Formats: sequence, C-alpha cells, structure tokens
Amino acid sequence: MSIAILGAGAMANGLAALFAKAGYKVVVGARDVAKAQAAAAAAGHGARGDSIAAAAKSADVIVLAAPFAAAAEILAAAGDVAGKTIVDISNPLTPDYMGLTIGHTTSAGEEIQKLAPKAKVVKAFNTIFAQVLANGGKAAGRTTTVFVAGDDASANGAVEAIARKAGFDVVQTGGLKLARYLEPLAGLNVVLAYGRGLGADIAPTWNFSAAKAA
Ligand SMILES: NC(=O)c1ccc[n+]([C@@H]2O[C@H](COP(=O)([O-])OP(=O)(O)OC[C@H]3O[C@@H](n4cnc5c(N)ncnc54)[C@H](OP(=O)(O)O)[C@@H]3O)[C@@H](O)[C@H]2O)c1
Repeated sequence: MSIAILGAGAMANGLAALFAKAGYKVVVGARDVAKAQAAAAAAGHGARGDSIAAAAKSADVIVLAAPFAAAAEILAAAGDVAGKTIVDISNPLTPDYMGLTIGHTTSAGEEIQKLAPKAKVVKAFNTIFAQVLANGGKAAGRTTTVFVAGDDASANGAVEAIARKAGFDVVQTGGLKLARYLEPLAGLNVVLAYGRGLGADIAPTWNFSAAKAA
C-alpha cells in the first residue's frame, strides 16, 4: 500500500513519519519539491519527496495535508484521483482558530468529495494535533483516537488499518456526513488547547463497549 501525503507542513511531517515507521511506502508531494524531500528525509524508512502530481499518481491513498481553503488547488495539481481514497484531515477554521467557516449543512469533507466526485473521501485525523503526531500519536502519554467518516466501507476500512498500524485507536462514525460532527469536535479541541490554554498535548476520545462496535 502506498500513501501520498500532499503538503509538507506540520501535519504532513507528522503523518509521513508515523506511516513510514509503520511500514507504508510513503511519498510526500508538495509544490516545493525540496520541502517534500526534506519532510521525507525527516520521516526516514524509505519515504521520498516528489511533486504533488507525481506523488498523487503513484499512490493508492492520498492524504490532503494542506488547509481546507487550498483543497481545490491541491486537487487540481494532483490530477486524476478517480477511484483513489482521499483522506481529508482538514478543519475549516476561522482565521483566529476559534470557530468554523462552514458547518451544520455541509462540512469540509463533503465539500472535498464534491471537488473529487470520483474519489472516495474519508474524514480522519482531523482531531489529532500535529504535536500529538510528533509525540508518536500519544496525547498526555496515552493512545489517541482517530475518528473515521466516509461513504465507502472499503476506503473507511483501509484508513482504519493505516491508523491502527500507525498506533492509533479508531472509531468508525458512519458516512461522510458525520464530518459535520467531527469538524466541530476538532474545533472544541482547538478551543480547549489554545483558548482555554490546556495545550496541544490533548486529543478527544470516546468510551463505549467494544462488543457493540464489532
Ligand atoms: N496543525 C494541526 O495540529 C492540525 C490538526 C488537525 C488537522 N489539521 C489540518 O491539517 C491540514 C494541514 O495543517 P498543517 O498544520 O500541517 O499546516 P501547515 O503546517 O501550515 O502546512 C500546510 C501545507 O499546505 C501546503 N499548501 C498550502 N496551500 C497550498 C496550495 N494551494 N497548494 C499546495 N500546497 C499548499 C503548504 O505548502 P507550502 O509549504 O508550499 O506553503 C504546506 O506544506 C489543515 O487542513 C489543518 O486544518 C491540522
């Protein structure tokens, strides 16, 4: 399984490191190939850097690790993504990070699905801070939870497998529409971390009976 991570910022660096360490073939794609190569070199484990188009073309799973506002541009640069799984990690935050720019009747996940109608968009990792990724996926020393939402069961399963192999717990929430809840959940996480000052070593989780989730 090869994973392209489009973007070379904080989240891209963190995810590339965790996925490469978990044994995935990782390619980081960025508009500045030197930045992609630097992120790949930092990730190690055979990760490589390339252009956005080349990275996207070579991968089965594509992680959009750029701001939601850049989704259309980065998808245009990615080229044909029909049939591929696209992992949307974005949060449509206001400039002060204390609110969301869209919600209730749509979500960043659903808007990205509209931009790439032939791809399988899966919302995931949006409630995990880059600092948590840099800490090996742990918050306050504990395993964190990746919430997954998507309309294609096999794509949701593929993203769950990646997240579990990278060391996370996973909660499957349902269809992509559930991104309407996951994005505000991440918003609350940001408010607690930065508004209330609890810091970014923080992540939401959910307690329930595993037997009922099986
Ligand atoms: N940071 C977090 O803790 C966190 C947590 C959960 C979710 N997220 C989400 O993760 C995503 C990435 O966040 P981040 O913190 O990693 O951001 P970041 O450090 O600012 O990095 C953003 C990356 O996106 C690239 N980019 C921006 N506009 C682009 C465009 N038009 N075309 C191609 N590439 C473009 C940038 O490229 P250049 O370097 O060339 O500018 C940069 O590599 C966002 O959607 C954010 O909401 C972040």
